[in-house]
Amino acid sequence: MEEFKKIGVLTSGGDAPGMNAAIRAVVRAGIHAGFEVYGIRRGYMGMIEGDIIPLTSQAVSGIIQNGGTILQTARCKEFFTPEGRKTAYDQLVKFGIQAVIVIGGDGSFTGASIISREYDIPIIGIPGTIDNDLFGTDYTIGYDTALNTVVEAVDKIRDTASSHGRIFFVEVMGNEAGFVALRSGIACGAEGILIPEEKGQLDRLRKYLAERARQKKSSIIMVAEGEEEGGAMTIASIIKREYPELDIRTTILGHIQRGGSPTAFDRVSASRMGAAAIEALIDDQKSIMIGIVNSEIVHVPLNKTVKMHKDVNRDLLKLAEILV
Ligand code: F6P
Repeated sequence: MEEFKKIGVLTSGGDAPGMNAAIRAVVRAGIHAGFEVYGIRRGYMGMIEGDIIPLTSQAVSGIIQNGGTILQTARCKEFFTPEGRKTAYDQLVKFGIQAVIVIGGDGSFTGASIISREYDIPIIGIPGTIDNDLFGTDYTIGYDTALNTVVEAVDKIRDTASSHGRIFFVEVMGNEAGFVALRSGIACGAEGILIPEEKGQLDRLRKYLAERARQKKSSIIMVAEGEEEGGAMTIASIIKREYPELDIRTTILGHIQRGGSPTAFDRVSASRMGAAAIEALIDDQKSIMIGIVNSEIVHVPLNKTVKMHKDVNRDLLKLAEILV
């Protein structure tokens, strides 16, 4: 094993509740293993600009319960150019950082996989996104919290929907994936779930509206923002045109899904994955993502997780249809 002394940690892409718990675990497990840990602020942007600070055990005290990320985050286009990555690598060399732990999603891992190969630098990924759309892990940090945020909000919407006998289209995040919509839809007893992974759902919705909606007092239709028609507003206007007698409202939950105090599940997963990332570095792993499959920590090659598509659980999709 190469003797590392200094390692960096960053958060990148959309923030997710539990990222702070992961930073804390990386810092404390890293110090425990004898590393000096540096925080790279604003994701790859901070790597390019050399916005890098030492992190002590004390610096990550009192953050496990906080949403957001103390290191801040960014979506950095420059990192996707060879020049941007060269500048970033030069900064790592300047600070003496020999390995980096990246907490983020698909886009962040694509960049991580490239720079790791180009400059032969060990990079360990920790999946952090509310979308849960990363191949090779059952859960990503923030997904459970986002689900609970959606359920709490939709339960409230249900109260007013049933009082007025209205149909509510509720749009949740997931521009390429329907994990949040599907699972929260089941948890809320939604009458319809529209996700990018399933085609032809509008026809199913029409069938439901023709057969059942009139007999029901109210309906909740969960819509993932990336579904094929273009989201809840579009679907609502199509349905309104076709069924002018229905009383329809639309709610876009938006970024409230990304904030808030992480659930116990997200805190524990983030803590386990943060410590596992340090162990992976000690074991001389390079360019892998830490995942959790069947409650066990797993290692997945970074280039595999970015190349492969994670499908939604088809059994859950079926269940949702049966339970309407
Ligand atoms: O990837 C996480 C995510 O929350 C997606 O679900 C959503 O489409 C996107 O980020 C929104 O990104 P931004 O905050 O940059 O608008």
